[in-house]
Amino acid sequence: MKITVDGPAGSGKSYIAKGISLELGIPYLETGLAYRAVGFLLLKQEEGLEEVSWERIQPLLSRIEILPDIGKTRIFIDGLEVKEELLRSEEVGRAASVVGTVPQFREYINELFRRLIGNRQAVVEGRDAGTHIFPEADIKLFITASPEERARRRWKQLMDQGIEADMKEILEKILERDKRDREREKYPFRPAEDAIVIDTTNIGPEESLEMALSVVRKAEDGKAP
Ligand code: DC
Repeated sequence: MKITVDGPAGSGKSYIAKGISLELGIPYLETGLAYRAVGFLLLKQEEGLEEVSWERIQPLLSRIEILPDIGKTRIFIDGLEVKEELLRSEEVGRAASVVGTVPQFREYINELFRRLIGNRQAVVEGRDAGTHIFPEADIKLFITASPEERARRRWKQLMDQGIEADMKEILEKILERDKRDREREKYPFRPAEDAIVIDTTNIGPEESLEMALSVVRKAEDGKAP
């Protein structure tokens, strides 16, 4: 069974995708980490996020390896596994969103994702997993939540780590990232027409995961001989 889980930042999609992968014991491909790995390498260059282009991205690609595992997507740069925290910062998230505006990269990486997974069962999470990577997936989930709630979650996450943060500023950044993802010229971020939408604004992670798993179980029952 192939399951795609798409949605904006802070919607709870990663928690759900990881939970499904662990529950079913099938590999988890978090596509955002590939965008983040490229963003991370770009930020290390002098030009930073100035004029991000395919010409700048292409030479970096042979340094990055992606390994979908159960409950986790592992990323290697220059042969060494990257600590997750390095890729999860706000700054790298922003860089990843800029990388996402380069159509040649999207075409390249989506082809690589298709080759990595092939005919295997997997949970594939991102922005365009159900629309462009695996449009033939058995189940397509679209996880969403209001921008205010997504900002509140991010704020709480930072506070829990002892990092002072301003809610208004976080909300602005979320809206800016949403806008860049939705309005990019090629391959804008949209839910698949046949996606099942789960709105997590008023429900917690456990309940959201349960809802997603009940969709998966129903589909499995439907497939059983
Ligand atoms: O899922 P995430 O927050 O880690 O993704 C970070 C950014 O990467 C997101 O703002 C846009 C880009 N991205 C994308 O364009 N397409 C994907 N399939 C995954 C991520």
